[in-house]
Amino acid sequence: MQLTYYGHACFAVEAGGKKLLFDPFISGNPIAGHIDINSIEADYILLSHGHGDHVADCKAIADRTGATIIATAEVANWFKKQGCAHTHSMNYGPFLAEFGLVRMVPAAHSSSMPDGSYGGNPGGFVIKLAEGSFYYAGDTCLTMDMQLIPRYGKLDFAVLPIGGNFTMDPSDALAAAAFIQCKKIVGVHYNTWPPISINKEQATNMFSSDGRELLLPGIGETISV
Ligand code: NI
Ligand code: MN
Repeated sequence: MQLTYYGHACFAVEAGGKKLLFDPFISGNPIAGHIDINSIEADYILLSHGHGDHVADCKAIADRTGATIIATAEVANWFKKQGCAHTHSMNYGPFLAEFGLVRMVPAAHSSSMPDGSYGGNPGGFVIKLAEGSFYYAGDTCLTMDMQLIPRYGKLDFAVLPIGGNFTMDPSDALAAAAFIQCKKIVGVHYNTWPPISINKEQATNMFSSDGRELLLPGIGETISV
């Protein structure tokens, strides 16, 4: 699978000819000025929760690409009201999409929409594709619930927030990697603003000394996962 990082918690996974885009927040990202949102393709846009730093560019990209927005009912219906043509409402549990199995799992965080309206509960996704499986935690602290993730099968990689303050920090993410039994972690939700700045070298060393890999692709970089 190919993963492209667009900064903050936004990334795309390309598999089986479909492009899944997660949590599009690019135009307001102070360190992603070189990314043109009009160059981003998507077949599906998956949203972990309603916060602006996860949904700000969703409507623009969905309108241009015709992508289907997959999110909790509160988030999906908010975008439907904004005029987005294709939305799929769900909640915690599995949904068999045409590209694979989408399982929304809990995240311990909060959720409101950019206009302050209720955003439902925040979540993460376990995605099972023909090419492999991965977990995107969304914004969350470390939770005991993460120990349930391996029941859904072996993960090829996981995308975890590591910036602290609003989410897990690198040491929490390392504990999460053990809970979810995954060796390959892509770190997101860090260094966008001072409160979530981390020491990248310290974080990657922490993972490698535990026999795990912390991948920190550059903004705009595509990696094989
Ligand atoms: Ni958030
Ligand atoms: Mn966030």
